[in-house]
Amino acid sequence: MTRASLDKQPQDVAAMFDDVAEKYDLTNDVLSLGQTRLWRRAVAQALDVRPGERVLDLGAGTGTSSLPFAAAGADTVPCDFSLGMLREGKKRHPELPLTAGDATRLPFADGVFDAVTISFALRNVHDTDAALREMRRVAKPGGRLVICEFSHPTYRPLRTVYTEYLMRALPPVARSVSSNPDAYVYLAESIRAWPDQKALAGRLQGAGWKGVAWRNLTGGIVALHRGANPGAPGGR
Ligand SMILES: C[S@@+](CC[C@H](N)C(=O)[O-])C[C@H]1O[C@@H](n2cnc3c(N)ncnc32)[C@H](O)[C@@H]1O
Repeated sequence: MTRASLDKQPQDVAAMFDDVAEKYDLTNDVLSLGQTRLWRRAVAQALDVRPGERVLDLGAGTGTSSLPFAAAGADTVPCDFSLGMLREGKKRHPELPLTAGDATRLPFADGVFDAVTISFALRNVHDTDAALREMRRVAKPGGRLVICEFSHPTYRPLRTVYTEYLMRALPPVARSVSSNPDAYVYLAESIRAWPDQKALAGRLQGAGWKGVAWRNLTGGIVALHRGANPGAPGGR
């Protein structure tokens, strides 16, 4: 069984998700105590897609995160670099055009998506800034970005309890529901090491996204960051 470490070597990250693919969605629901569904609804509201718009869901895994956009009538492209996750997605959602691609070198032309989104995946990409630039490259001028990612609870007592829950409870609970419990050691480590809300907003700005803002969900356990593409790289 493979687990990535904090240097996030792409082949380790992909292999780790290959290993958890079969039980990924179930494990997610159990470990988040059902919160995942609420977070996905908030992403759909924030992205506010219209029928016929082209939407890229990056790091889409089994395609579950893409379903709300497809249901809203958007032409939705789920993209991921774990063939195991994509294979599992194809079994469950044969109607989705699941596409293999690396977030840091996307297999799409410039300026083709009305909206780009990424849920619980940016933290796993080995080069965050390259992925933020690539997302901007493939977004149309004026195209929207919504990032949904684990973040840092803003209320100190919640932060303490959450950190304890994560670090101590997650791996034992994962052992009973996941095919690769070690992956959940990585999950806890990578959440702790991830930039807080303000720092991530700065990274979006650094990649040229404008109108950057964020909203906390579940007290900051998750944050939604948004931005808009002002135009060609370099910022017209
Ligand atoms: C935790 S899963 C999230 C899946 C889905 N978005 C969801 O919300 O359920 C993270 C996904 O990011 C993908 N991923 C990580 N690094 C990637 C990269 N560089 N390019 C494409 N996908 C990547 C993994 O393969 C995995 O499927």
